[in-house]
Amino acid sequence: MPDQVRHDGKQNNQILSSVFSLVKGKRAEEVLVQTITYIVLVPMVYLAFLIFVVGFICRVVKIWRAPKQPTTLQIFPEKRPKWLWALHDSFLLPTVRRHNPVLWFFLMIFHVALLLLIIGHLELFKGFTFFQFWEHEIFLGKGFVGLTLIIALLYLLFRRFASPTRELSIPEDYYLLILIFLTVLFGSQMDWARRWYGYAEMSPGDYQTYLTSLLFFRPELPPAVYQSGHSFMLVLHVFFANLFIMFFPFSKIMHSFFTIPMNKLRRG
Ligand code: HEM
Repeated sequence: MPDQVRHDGKQNNQILSSVFSLVKGKRAEEVLVQTITYIVLVPMVYLAFLIFVVGFICRVVKIWRAPKQPTTLQIFPEKRPKWLWALHDSFLLPTVRRHNPVLWFFLMIFHVALLLLIIGHLELFKGFTFFQFWEHEIFLGKGFVGLTLIIALLYLLFRRFASPTRELSIPEDYYLLILIFLTVLFGSQMDWARRWYGYAEMSPGDYQTYLTSLLFFRPELPPAVYQSGHSFMLVLHVFFANLFIMFFPFSKIMHSFFTIPMNKLRRG
């Protein structure tokens, strides 16, 4: 009998020790996940914007200092008012429409969706109510903006695997599209989880608290960010967005800032 008792005691100790190690393990995992969440959502965002600003300034200075173009870039016949034609060329992409209407269609829906997306992200800052003159839910488009972007990005990516675009593409073209695709995919997943599937533990109010606190350099992650089962989507979304923001000034996406001035040069 004492043997039995001793045996039970030994067993109990073993069970207790495995329970402790499980709890300890869980705790360690939790701490690890929380640390990664914090690093991606706070210091990495600041680092991304720092690299963006410094990179952007360097790129603009480099262009400014480059030798002037010896010949004119102007196209003829001249049309007036020149600035209106420059805007027309920048926003309606007439040359692309003439040569490749399918590409033009996907580029147009991509850029319109991007505009709505920028408005959505700006509204994640408390007090940014400019666009609420027409009352709407934060993130216009009921989740379809993300879906549109995904479809357009898949087209732009697969187009690069087919000739003749394939021969004209460089690795950066693929990296960039894949990076934007991953960012958009996880952003959309969060939006769909919240709106379409009812997983609303993280609300726009929580996002506003988080982003506004970053803006004023008093970082705060609302409890929902640690407690929600799908906060990993937020972490992945912001992780890929950070990479995208860091890469931006060194990539061809800088064209977005130079399109209007370039078209103004072309129109004279
Ligand atoms: C650090 C920068 C960024 C942060 C903190 C951020 C944060 C967020 C948040 C909180 C949402 C809301 C999700 C929801 O509705 O539940 C969201 C949605 C989204 N984000 Fe971002 N984001 C960032 C950058 C970007 C970038 C650079 C892109 C695209 C290139 C992007 C694409 C999207 C998309 C597509 C959605 C879903 C919109 C919809 O379907 O209506 N985000 N983002």
